[in-house]
Amino acid sequence: MAVTIKSAREIELMREAGKILASVHEELGKAIKPGMSTKEIDILGENLIREHGCIPSFLNYEGYPASICVSVNDEVVHGIPTHDRILKEGDIVSLDAGVIYKGYHSDAARTHMVGEVSKEARQLIEVTRQSFFEGIKYATEGRHLYEISAAIGTYAESFGYGVVRDLVGHGIGRNLHEDPQIPNFKQRRRGMKLQAGMTLAIEPMINAGGFDVVWLDDDWTVVTEDGSLSAHYENTVLITKGEPEILSLSL
Ligand code: MF3
Ligand code: CO
Repeated sequence: MAVTIKSAREIELMREAGKILASVHEELGKAIKPGMSTKEIDILGENLIREHGCIPSFLNYEGYPASICVSVNDEVVHGIPTHDRILKEGDIVSLDAGVIYKGYHSDAARTHMVGEVSKEARQLIEVTRQSFFEGIKYATEGRHLYEISAAIGTYAESFGYGVVRDLVGHGIGRNLHEDPQIPNFKQRRRGMKLQAGMTLAIEPMINAGGFDVVWLDDDWTVVTEDGSLSAHYENTVLITKGEPEILSLSL
């Protein structure tokens, strides 16, 4: 799937999609409580997405069976919500959601704390979020993709964390996944030159321990190989000639 440059009209629709997705994440964040099942989060998320006139893009995507990916503790991404998985005080939970608004996608993820969590868990969440912001300092027309990747990876690794290699960010637009792929760690190649009108889902996945991950038998859930905690932070970003515009974040 090629890299696409969005028109003014397409950008307007992606802004709307992003605004809705940001509000869905805010509502989900407020709802997270010990005792809640991961399926309840999915149901709430799907309802919020549909109430805003959007379609949940993950539902049935390559057979994925839910609207929200809910990944707890050592689960990195793509956890499948179930009624019997109950959040407890001290857990961290990553929520990844995607919406389609009038044919255009937005994709974003947040990691939340369930009640009080350890200092280590809190720092992992904060560093993962900050690594995204370190990366987008370089998300501007004329720079190369590898500058974003290196900035994310270097920042996260300076805390001794493992930056997941097997999953990457991506272009986004009429499709959930478009070119280019956006690794979260240093690359040997400069990669593509960024151009105004590109829309990118930049999504660091950071482990407290090593970077290796494995897939569970459900063929979706990705977990850290060493059992360490993992956090995820993602936004859909518009490249411009100046500062990037974070479409899926309401400030
Ligand atoms: N945000 C995820 C990604 O970019 C989307 C999850 S894929 C799904 O790959 F299958 F779970 F929907
Ligand atoms: Co994504």
